[in-house]
Amino acid sequence: MRVLLVCLAGLLVCLKTADSHSLPQKDYETDSSKHDITIPLNDTSGNNSSSVPDNSNGIFDSNTTTFIARSVTRVGKKESMGIYAHKNGKVKKILEGSMAVSPWSSKSRAYLGNKDGIYVYDTETEKLEKYGNLSDNVIGIAKENRTDDLYILTEDHVVYKVTEEGTKKIKVNEAEHAERIALDWDDNLYYIGANNQPYVVASDGAKKIEGLPANSTPTLISRPPITIEHGAWFISGQQAYIIYPNATSELYVFNDQEKLEYEKRNRAVQAIFLQVRDQTEE
Ligand SMILES: *[C@@H]1O[C@H](CO)[C@@H](O)[C@H](O)[C@H]1NC(C)=O
Ligand SMILES: *[C@@H]1O[C@H](CO)[C@@H](O)[C@H](O)[C@H]1NC(C)=O
Ligand SMILES: *[C@@H]1O[C@H](CO)[C@@H](O)[C@H](O)[C@H]1NC(C)=O
Ligand SMILES: *[C@@H]1O[C@H](CO)[C@@H](O)[C@H](O)[C@H]1NC(C)=O
Ligand SMILES: *[C@@H]1O[C@H](CO)[C@@H](O)[C@H](O)[C@H]1NC(C)=O
Ligand SMILES: *[C@@H]1O[C@H](CO)[C@@H](O)[C@H](O)[C@H]1NC(C)=O
Ligand SMILES: *[C@@H]1O[C@H](CO)[C@@H](O)[C@H](O)[C@H]1NC(C)=O
Repeated sequence: MRVLLVCLAGLLVCLKTADSHSLPQKDYETDSSKHDITIPLNDTSGNNSSSVPDNSNGIFDSNTTTFIARSVTRVGKKESMGIYAHKNGKVKKILEGSMAVSPWSSKSRAYLGNKDGIYVYDTETEKLEKYGNLSDNVIGIAKENRTDDLYILTEDHVVYKVTEEGTKKIKVNEAEHAERIALDWDDNLYYIGANNQPYVVASDGAKKIEGLPANSTPTLISRPPITIEHGAWFISGQQAYIIYPNATSELYVFNDQEKLEYEKRNRAVQAIFLQVRDQTEE
């Protein structure tokens, strides 16, 4: 089963689709394969087009870079199939073993977490460089909105704050066994714990977010679409919630316009995904 999961800023889009025959089986153990792509970022260093053309692919045109992180879950363990950048109709593999892209950097820089530390990709020059000197196996990464500091999640489920251009890391002791991390626009840190429930890291420790279904299966936690100023975005199954730094939560209901945008994005993302697949798995 392939799981396609998307959440993009600017337009309210989160989607999840699944199908069983999207990828050739030969690369995976057939009984346990789960393919998963995420598009955490649309980089808008290029143009500022707010009108959505009818051609759904056009959503992602004019110098916008869309990242696709592909991974396979084999025997319960997520393995990377690489990070791809889609820009102006072209797909480029930028990092082999990476699963983590920092969403919504304000400049033309995207931060990527890899098995051997952090990389930075310039979406204008299309150059990839090592960032700082850390060598952790990074499976999650988020950049603060107001500073250049990052948070990383390492393979052993520890969260660190990374400062001084990637040369210093400080363990976030409050976040215990994190599965995923996210920041909101106010730079509050959230994470999904071992019990699949989201937490917010407050000055007096981590707090479990209240008001969510007890046995929710999180599919995404991220910075919310730009139209939502406060709180983070949490998707459980098909349902979106906003989770707040005061540990409360709120169901998010899409309006008609947002649903339309959602469907357009869905089609555009599917098209990009197919393009990535076609170019990489002949
Ligand atoms: C994402 O892209 C759309 C158009 O492609 C743009 O309107 C929106 O502002 C972008 N989001 C962010 C956070 O820049
Ligand atoms: C980008 O789009 C927004 C919303 O349509 C608009 O308010 C803003 O002025 C635009 N910025 C530029 C640089 O064109
Ligand atoms: C891109 O930006 C240029 C100049 O800012 C503007 O003339 C053009 O209409 C924009 N294109 C789109 C698709 O918004
Ligand atoms: C896209 O980027 C190129 C190179 O930086 C620039 O020359 C071009 O004007 C940009 N196009 C748009 C539509 O912004
Ligand atoms: C991001 O940080 C800037 C600078 O502090 C702030 O003005 C802006 O409101 C923040 N963005 C959002 C969406 O809150
Ligand atoms: C990274 O560089 C900083 C500053 O040059 C240094 O203090 C630190 O020990 C280095 N860390 C590693 C892991 O090499
Ligand atoms: C928590 O924060 C949200 C968003 O700022 C607010 O609407 C809500 O009333 C707050 N709840 C409590 C119990 O303080």
